[in-house]
Amino acid sequence: MKRGRFITVEGIEGVGKSTNIGFIRRLIEQAGFDVVVTREPGGTPLAEQIRDIVLRTEHDLPSQTEMLLMFAARSANVCTQIRPALDAGSWVLCDRFTDATIAYQGYGRGVDIETIMTLAQVVHGDLWPDLTLLLDTPVETGLGRAAKRSAPDRFESEQLEFFNRVRAGYLELARSERIELVDASVSLEQVQQQIAAIIEPYLGPGQ
Ligand code: TMP
Repeated sequence: MKRGRFITVEGIEGVGKSTNIGFIRRLIEQAGFDVVVTREPGGTPLAEQIRDIVLRTEHDLPSQTEMLLMFAARSANVCTQIRPALDAGSWVLCDRFTDATIAYQGYGRGVDIETIMTLAQVVHGDLWPDLTLLLDTPVETGLGRAAKRSAPDRFESEQLEFFNRVRAGYLELARSERIELVDASVSLEQVQQQIAAIIEPYLGPGQ
């Protein structure tokens, strides 16, 4: 059976990932494909427990430990959910993947990017997204939106400077052909027009 497409959505806090993942899911389903929607860190019961640790622990979490926990969660999600779904011909739509580790742990925390790439090779080998949508807004706009939502988690409590490094990292990654930049600072309707135009070619007959 033909392998499904693997699509990921990335961006700093408050760029509107959740709303737009719902929109992308509907586009894929309307085109007649099955789609599994998942998130990282998380997506399986074990990986959701790891998510709780990285987002909520009050213990000191060294940057390298944080990075390894991200890959531990990813390994569970890839082995038990992402690969099986793709092998069964389904699409997978994932809220964050290894690009987030490069942006947050690499550019944000200063973890060596070559080490991150070595672990990526161990955990998911040649499996990289077919398409990544990077939702981008200025850091102040995103953090302002995120602050209205809920009490800050461990990442949301970071300083502006951290998120500026993360955003710069993402923009650097967006030079790759696989990653499409979406201006998320405009109205939701305009954001979704951009997303639809990017996804469209993947949904056509024979894809
Ligand atoms: P979110 O899924 O609610 O956006 O939040 C997850 C948080 O985890 C977010 O602050 C980004 C962070 N994160 C990393 O630092 N590295 C990673 O590899 C992933 C997947 C997420």
